[in-house]
Amino acid sequence: MKGIILAGGSGTRLYPLTKSVSKQMLPVYDKPMIYYPLSALMLAGIREILIISTPRDLDRFEELLGNGHRLGLDIHYQVQDEPNGLAEAFLIGEEFIGDSPVALILGDNIFYGSNFGNLLADASNLTTGALVFGCYVKNPKAYGVIEVDDDLNPISIEEKPLHPKSTLAIPGLYFFDHQVVEIAKTVKPSERGEKEITSIINEYLHRGELKFELLGRGLAWFDTGTHESLLEASQFVETIQKRQGLYIACIEEIAFRRGYITKDQLLEVAEPLMKTDYGKYLVDVTKSRNEKIRDKGAFMSDSI
Ligand code: DAU
Repeated sequence: MKGIILAGGSGTRLYPLTKSVSKQMLPVYDKPMIYYPLSALMLAGIREILIISTPRDLDRFEELLGNGHRLGLDIHYQVQDEPNGLAEAFLIGEEFIGDSPVALILGDNIFYGSNFGNLLADASNLTTGALVFGCYVKNPKAYGVIEVDDDLNPISIEEKPLHPKSTLAIPGLYFFDHQVVEIAKTVKPSERGEKEITSIINEYLHRGELKFELLGRGLAWFDTGTHESLLEASQFVETIQKRQGLYIACIEEIAFRRGYITKDQLLEVAEPLMKTDYGKYLVDVTKSRNEKIRDKGAFMSDSI
């Protein structure tokens, strides 16, 4: 499976923060926002990744992450000229996707929870149809909303409905088979002028090929669309990291523990970061690998 991180958009809801800087480059506690969705793809075992951003911001992402080889990844970059909607990711990424299934994650979505890594690893085995998730939220009107029956089979999907049929929001992480490109080509802009991801999901629903998985109370999901939610996400990451001594979305650690890079490569990556706790943590990770118990706890396969 391949992965796409959509990290464009105008970020106007976060002005003046995002007047000259990409939203997905803003700090969430101690690391750039894009580390979080990137770590989710890595936990899903996805190593071939396309980052899509604006003509202004794309170079900055490339400066940050390069070709991904130092993390054992293969990262590609493509521009989205205008924020025409999430579904456009599959048109821009058509060549990158080819015949492969693909996961799309929004660059401002952050997930954390027990067993999340295993759930992602399962999801990445998808070869036919589509898979979306559902998270309970207080304000479903702000999201794509999914209605499900008693057996959790999807019934309807609506984008930012005025009268939501449920309180289950669809978070910005989606798994599709290769049909997604052809479906995306048929999507017409909505009333707000965007090619909506929900139109694609609806098409899978109509074809009877949509799978749904409920993310329960044990899973924290943040989209960082407002100043409040951005701060909340930072505080959450700080709280967990300080308490556990284990980092969330530490992409270098995941690369090492997943076996994408060796101990020596991890130490090399840590070298320029040694003035920070982050760098020291990476060195600790190399030491802890053989300690079974710590390794089990620290292995980020079940959370990020
Ligand atoms: O966060 C989950 C929600 O994301 C879903 O529940 C909704 O179904 C989905 O439409 C989306 O809603 P948002 O209102 O959050 O979408 P927004 O326009 O804020 O875009 C989400 C991210 O994608 C944001 O970081 C900017 C980026 N983006 C957005 C558009 C429209 C792009 O990179 N390109 C785009 O064309």
